[in-house]
Amino acid sequence: MAGSVHREPDVEESESLRSDANIAGPMTDPVPGPRTESPGEDVSASMPTAFGPEGRSETPPPMDDTTPADGAPQAGAQAAVRSGGGLPRPEQTRVIVVANQKGGVGKTTTTVNLAASLALHGSRVLVIDLDPQGNASTALGIDHHAEVPSVYDVLVDSKPLADIVQPVQDVEGLFCAPATIDLAGAEIELVSLVARESRLQRAIQAYEQPLDYILIDCPPSLGLLTVNALVAGAEVLIPIQCEYYALEGLGQLLRNVDLVRGHLNPRLHVSTILLTMYDGRTRLASQVADEVRSHFGSEVLRTSIPRSVRISEAPSYGQTVLTYDPSSSGSLSYLEAAREIALRGVGVRYDGRHAHALPGNNQHSMQEGNR
Ligand SMILES: Nc1ncnc2c1ncn2[C@@H]1O[C@H](COP(=O)(O)OP(=O)(O)OP(=O)(O)O)[C@@H](O)[C@H]1O
Ligand SMILES: [Mg+2]
Repeated sequence: MAGSVHREPDVEESESLRSDANIAGPMTDPVPGPRTESPGEDVSASMPTAFGPEGRSETPPPMDDTTPADGAPQAGAQAAVRSGGGLPRPEQTRVIVVANQKGGVGKTTTTVNLAASLALHGSRVLVIDLDPQGNASTALGIDHHAEVPSVYDVLVDSKPLADIVQPVQDVEGLFCAPATIDLAGAEIELVSLVARESRLQRAIQAYEQPLDYILIDCPPSLGLLTVNALVAGAEVLIPIQCEYYALEGLGQLLRNVDLVRGHLNPRLHVSTILLTMYDGRTRLASQVADEVRSHFGSEVLRTSIPRSVRISEAPSYGQTVLTYDPSSSGSLSYLEAAREIALRGVGVRYDGRHAHALPGNNQHSMQEGNR
């Protein structure tokens, strides 16, 4: 990461405006949908230079309000995946911490939908719900009432992770370690425990089931729960909502990442930034996206996640958008984001049309994922 990312960018002062016409086609899919940003396409010349009263352009909304597809959810989602091809699987388990202490930016939504996308691409994926709200558990349809063995038992009572992991219905290869409300007390209880920052790391190390990915959904704070995640993981994925104040407080998160890297986990780095709730009708969204890209550069995924009714509806059915409405733009964007993440993991980066090996990457062997 460049040192400049530690500065808190001032979004309001940006002059780099682009419209929501920055939609390139999907990287390889013949199907329409995923919103990706075309780096070379600057259409600011064709845009008015000042915001309207509500900061909106007149471009029609890109939201997906179609009726969810009927039929077996897994079959529909698999069909969407097949159209995009298989994915390489990592040689070692990638532990990805989804963090941003700002609330409501799409951490949980990103965790569960990316996890489902990766599993549908043939990977074995574990979601660890580290938020006492238990939203990831809910979205994956996992029971998490107070008596259910949960991450609390793992962190506070050293229960093996294997004893709490549950399979997710409808998505083969996807598992969840649920959070219950007990976890709300864990921040306090952990303070007096031995190795309080590394209890999750130890639990993961002792977990013997083969996994390609572990995604950890963090609470909106930088307390001991998030620190446990940062010690356990190697990668940090930061979802950034394309709204005002999107970058506020991010400096604090980045400083914490630096601190944990310096003292507790030298492998830790911010590997991925994902723009979420991108509303192409607002110029503010493209302005924020440009700011984020100029500050974070190559860590930002080309794919951004559109604001989508289907994405927000899915959790109330205990489903990810991948099974709830496989052909929606939200579903296709998460599949595309998952593809970028999987390819980056084996040192391949897309410029929109072509795959490039990353400099200095020695991981030439790619395991083709089963589809
Ligand atoms: N792309 C999207 N389109 C529409 N709604 C979305 C999208 N992503 C997330 N949401 C909705 O925004 C709200 C916040 O999302 P989410 O719970 O994922 O954020 P979070 O960062 O995990 O929040 P918290 O900080 O409370 O844990 C939820 O109601 C979710 O359904
Ligand atoms: Mg959440």
